[in-house]
Amino acid sequence: MPNVAAIERSRHGSSIGQPVTRREGHLKVTGQAGYAADYNPPGLLHAVMAVSGISRGRVTHLDVAAAEAHPGVVKVMTPANAPKLAKSPDDKDHGFMFRMNVLQNDSVRFANQPIAVVIAETLEAATEGVALLRPRYAEEPARIGLDGSAAFALQAVGAGAPAKGGIGDIEAGLAEAATRFEATYETPAQYHNPLEPHATVAEWDGDKLVLHTPSQGLTMAQGRIAGLFGIDPANILIKSPFLGGGFGAKGLFSGPQVLGIMAARFVGRPVKLVLRREQMFGPVGHRGETRQTLRLGADSTGGLTALEHNTLTTTSFYDDFFEPAGTTSRHLYASPAIATSHEGVRADIGTPIFMRAPGEAPGSAALECAIDELAVKAGMDPLDFRLRNYAEIEPITGKPFSSKALRQCYAQGAARFGWASRPRAPRQMRDDDGLLVGWGVGTATFPAMIFPSEARAVLRVDGSARVEIGAQDMGQGAWTSLAQIAADGLGVDYDKLDLEIGSSALPTGGIAGGSAGTATAGSAIHHAAADVIKKLAALATSDERSPLFGAGNSGVVPRDGRLVRQDDESRGESYASILARAGLAEIDGKGSAGPNPSMQESYAMHSHGAVFAEVKVDPDFGQIRVTRLVGAFAAGRIINPRMVRSQYYGGMIWGVGFALHEHAAADPRSGRLMNANLAEYHVPVNADVPLIEAILVEEHDPHVNVLGLKGVGEIGITGTVGAIANAVWHATGVRARAFPITLDTLLERPGDI
Ligand code: MOS
Repeated sequence: MPNVAAIERSRHGSSIGQPVTRREGHLKVTGQAGYAADYNPPGLLHAVMAVSGISRGRVTHLDVAAAEAHPGVVKVMTPANAPKLAKSPDDKDHGFMFRMNVLQNDSVRFANQPIAVVIAETLEAATEGVALLRPRYAEEPARIGLDGSAAFALQAVGAGAPAKGGIGDIEAGLAEAATRFEATYETPAQYHNPLEPHATVAEWDGDKLVLHTPSQGLTMAQGRIAGLFGIDPANILIKSPFLGGGFGAKGLFSGPQVLGIMAARFVGRPVKLVLRREQMFGPVGHRGETRQTLRLGADSTGGLTALEHNTLTTTSFYDDFFEPAGTTSRHLYASPAIATSHEGVRADIGTPIFMRAPGEAPGSAALECAIDELAVKAGMDPLDFRLRNYAEIEPITGKPFSSKALRQCYAQGAARFGWASRPRAPRQMRDDDGLLVGWGVGTATFPAMIFPSEARAVLRVDGSARVEIGAQDMGQGAWTSLAQIAADGLGVDYDKLDLEIGSSALPTGGIAGGSAGTATAGSAIHHAAADVIKKLAALATSDERSPLFGAGNSGVVPRDGRLVRQDDESRGESYASILARAGLAEIDGKGSAGPNPSMQESYAMHSHGAVFAEVKVDPDFGQIRVTRLVGAFAAGRIINPRMVRSQYYGGMIWGVGFALHEHAAADPRSGRLMNANLAEYHVPVNADVPLIEAILVEEHDPHVNVLGLKGVGEIGITGTVGAIANAVWHATGVRARAFPITLDTLLERPGDI
């Protein structure tokens, strides 16, 4: 088969926009891509965590002697002997630093909290050693769930967004409404389950540390470790070339990763610590539960008059992270009165943290259901209602969007899905097998962010090039899309471009999170490449032996290994010739990127989309299957349509899991999770995943960043959950207001189904 990507590229020498396959794909499928746990330095020991079986209290006894007597066990690290840290893991220097439980005392703050680490010659011996510890506890009653303790008001949610935000007078808006609707929606605790659990291979050499561990934010991780261990960040080398998923759980350095480093220091040998699957449920974050109450009003023409969105959400008893579920309601729909607020409630759980589309996922699930219910009550088609009410300018701030192709998303998605033939009333469609069929829609949205980053680019006399940045690829395709940006910036062929990412020794690559990884690292790379080209242009245009002499910096552009005159591309000189004449083997440049405050003050920046879902429901058993999903998304410039589609598919599949499967169930007596494993914590498998289409809606955003690109990693979840719930109603006539929607939700109301 011809390499379509290569042919397309050669047409114009342009990499951006081409559906290049994954640069590291061959390494991955042949097992040559080294993940953290694949690394086995000489003298390696294996560490396994023992975790708490209670959710609140103290550890009173561990049978350390029995574990240490076991063949192969080298040492057991407990609060009695664990290295003391230079900084208390409970200290917070800023709101972006989270407390961790790393054997500094014997208290237990949640089930599955680490209480000891057994270090042994083999993984088996360490695992057996853990079983021999037989912990005893002084247990206190667990406080679990949204009603487990008193709710309290919040100042900030998520990464520091205000807990309250609004405009206008809600009560007046409701009073003047022709149609009013109020409902409460609940979303459960959800736990990140990347294929690759957190793994750490730590090697100390004096005060120098080499670490193989997956990280979505290498520079932040370096800083956190430096603080805890009292060493210079420059002495810490973190290697994280490949991540087997992250979803936010690997964004901030976690307690178990710190324990791996402590264990290596404790025994004076390299140590590998890999979380068992069930240990992912607690010490590395999760999405907190929410209970969201919405009150809405619409006038007789279907225009929103009021939108109130109040959220109650769980956090731990020892730290603060609050799911920012109400933020979406601040910018998506144009109501003259908007009020959003958040309250917190503490539980004996590990602290929640960012989890793919934090806030937007549960928040838009509730919002899209409530909007749908209001539309139906007002006698309108739910899509027409959204077209009537989506915001053209951000209602609270009054800022225009940097660009907004939402109308196109609605239109293209609806056309592809066939929305026009949808009957208005529920329970009108059946398939050939007698299953109830329903169609639903949801609006998708996610902020377009960017973080500070730096990059270095080098062009060599042999026509090859190299770009270095400590960016992270957690599977989203950064290896590929960043190389495409680099190749175009330098005007070299994609295949002649070496990219190096995934190491803390490289210039800081910012964060692979907030759907901002490509904008963040890509912008820095773009500027580094531009710096190289500028220097090269200066060499050529000031040298009378060059055909570009006198062309001026702004008058030349990079093209296929040459600089050419912008006004006459036939006149130019190869990089090799320019460098050779200057006696240079290579030339390098630097670039940096980050948020642009003046643009952010002038514009609201978001990706947008619309998702259409078809479900089929068994009328006797209430079993729900998603059978079709069509998403149409606008996210500015598309660097690689193959990678972008893949991100949308992943987000939409996550939406299926959110709507129908994911639910961490806690035993209210013990506080322990009853399904902390992938057999009982359900995520969509192949049989659950329907026919999915993702339409890439063209959008030109001149303001968002230098490349005009927006994030694609998280938005796919946001419209999908509501679309599925609304389709379930359309199939059955039952409004499910608690996620995940399970068959018993439908059977509990037999009259309805
Ligand atoms: Mo994501 S929750 O920003 O990794």
